[in-house]
Amino acid sequence: MTGQRLEGKRALVTAAGQGIGRASAIAMAKEGAEVFATDVNMELLSTIRDQNLENIRIFELDVRSNDSVKKGIAQAAPDILFNCAGFVHHGTVLDATDAEFDFAIDLNLRAMMRTIRAALPGMLERGSGSIINMSSAAGSIIGAPNRFIYGTTKAAVVGLTKSVAVDYVKQGIRCNCICPGTVESPSWHDRVTALGKELGSYEAAMAQFVARQPMGRVATAEEIAALVVYLAADESAFTTGHTHIIDGGWSGQ
Ligand SMILES: NC(=O)c1ccc[n+]([C@@H]2O[C@H](COP(=O)([O-])OP(=O)(O)OC[C@H]3O[C@@H](n4cnc5c(N)ncnc54)[C@H](O)[C@@H]3O)[C@@H](O)[C@H]2O)c1
Repeated sequence: MTGQRLEGKRALVTAAGQGIGRASAIAMAKEGAEVFATDVNMELLSTIRDQNLENIRIFELDVRSNDSVKKGIAQAAPDILFNCAGFVHHGTVLDATDAEFDFAIDLNLRAMMRTIRAALPGMLERGSGSIINMSSAAGSIIGAPNRFIYGTTKAAVVGLTKSVAVDYVKQGIRCNCICPGTVESPSWHDRVTALGKELGSYEAAMAQFVARQPMGRVATAEEIAALVVYLAADESAFTTGHTHIIDGGWSGQ
């Protein structure tokens, strides 16, 4: 363990099988939290055992299923809920199908309503809770090209976050969201590969993604996890209802 910033707290993370969710589960465990790392893909999720962290428990949780969410939240009784699950659709409003839009609304947005509705009563009983929702810089902060469905759902996450924050601010509940720029993760590599097919090479696609970030690089999942730990911990006790932008200067120009 590296610290005790989350000692005595129970944290549930969705989509902890890879990328930001996985890095955040590990970072919170290293800060002393009892972590419930969940994902729909158990094969991916079980690789977190390599970390040899005794305070990480894993189980299957599909954020698109009410039953699965209710069961998982009942088991974890979390003080910290990190809603990380999400999917990126490529394309404009003319490319989007109704089925893709419905899928993204369900996974990127409605899933947060499911988990929050399940976790809030316990948090209210205990008089404290920190809810952290995964939004994106692409959405309400910046209109990114070919991110119509994604940006729409991620902008809505900001509204959901503010709404929950204001309704429960007097009862010890905090609700914030995170808006990253581009972050290195397995699904991001898939997006680079797909764009590379359009542009002629993987390298050209990588250069286009990196060029968006004034820092000249994309983020690591661990850099985003550090912000998750901060928002989960009592050191951010005066912070609620906000979008926390972490985008290498993308939107700061
Ligand atoms: N990578 C980026 O550049 C970036 C930038 C901003 C925001 N985000 C957001 O961060 C979150 C994580 O993205 P990432 O790129 O780190 O990870 P990723 O996309 O590589 O991994 C996604 C994980 O979600 C899991 N998952 C899929 N459907 C699920 C379901 N129904 N229930 C539970 N888990 C499910 C998958 O099994 C997988 O482990 C997403 O919400 C994404 O939109 C990512």
